[in-house]
Amino acid sequence: MSRFAGKKVVITGGTHGMGLDFAKALIAEGAEVLVTGRNEKNIEAARDELKENAHIVRSDAGSVSDIEALAKIVAEKFGKIDHVFLNAGLAILETIDKFTEDTFDRQYAVNTKGVFFAVKHLAPLIQSGGSITITTSVANTAGAPGMGVYGGAKAAVRAFVRVAASELVAQGVRVNAVSPGFIHTPSMGIPEATPEERAQFQALGDILTPMKRHGSMEEVTKAALFLAADATFTSGLEFTVDGGGSQGVLTPQ
Ligand SMILES: NC(=O)c1ccc[n+]([C@@H]2O[C@H](COP(=O)([O-])OP(=O)(O)OC[C@H]3O[C@@H](n4cnc5c(N)ncnc54)[C@H](OP(=O)(O)O)[C@@H]3O)[C@@H](O)[C@H]2O)c1
Repeated sequence: MSRFAGKKVVITGGTHGMGLDFAKALIAEGAEVLVTGRNEKNIEAARDELKENAHIVRSDAGSVSDIEALAKIVAEKFGKIDHVFLNAGLAILETIDKFTEDTFDRQYAVNTKGVFFAVKHLAPLIQSGGSITITTSVANTAGAPGMGVYGGAKAAVRAFVRVAASELVAQGVRVNAVSPGFIHTPSMGIPEATPEERAQFQALGDILTPMKRHGSMEEVTKAALFLAADATFTSGLEFTVDGGGSQGVLTPQ
């Protein structure tokens, strides 16, 4: 019997990259999945790829009214659910002299505000024994240039994971984070960057990561599957998938 047979799962930011990879793995293990995204091109591509195996809902992860509407759709389609993966995120590479109120607000809306309100509105639908996993980032703790706003937004989420874990324990719901380092995804998590900026960012990742390579989406998916299904005595954890980058692993040359 597979771990997710008959389970109902909601994934924000599931039309692209890591969220889509996680959705495919869950479907392969028998789950019924609802994924969200915003970009129409990515929504259509996900529809083609996931076919009738997933419900795909256009929903802005940074909009509280969209999140409230999403919770209603989830309740109508699924009733009670087993797992929520809050994965939608946005990093904009910009140093302190460059960021603006607009880029600050957009990153905090998707990475922080939307996550807090998604927990508020989706947690009541999760049945006892279920769980929430939230995607944070190695930028929580790393001091990489250009990641100030993004790192702050994700670090707030890491703190929130502990509080949500504490408040939801009585409901029988676990709350954990998966924290990727530099991972090969189509956008590298920086969808607004130019191809040159993305190439520079990738090269930086290979230098900074102790294992001297990027991680794969499958490596993040394996950690997310473990948190969702197997880590039944674990809550409040941040599971790093970053080649040792956030753990003080030293790499003498
Ligand atoms: N790739 C990395 O190296 C890396 C490292 C650390 C952490 N992360 C985090 O890991 C997660 C996934 O990253 P990824 O590289 O797989 O990125 P991605 O391919 O850009 O995926 C991000 C997902 O979030 C969705 N999204 C973004 N803004 C949204 C919004 N306002 N409303 C709804 N959906 C929205 C995207 O949908 P649309 O296409 O529709 O916008 C997409 O499905 C993110 O939280 C990211 O911050 C990534």
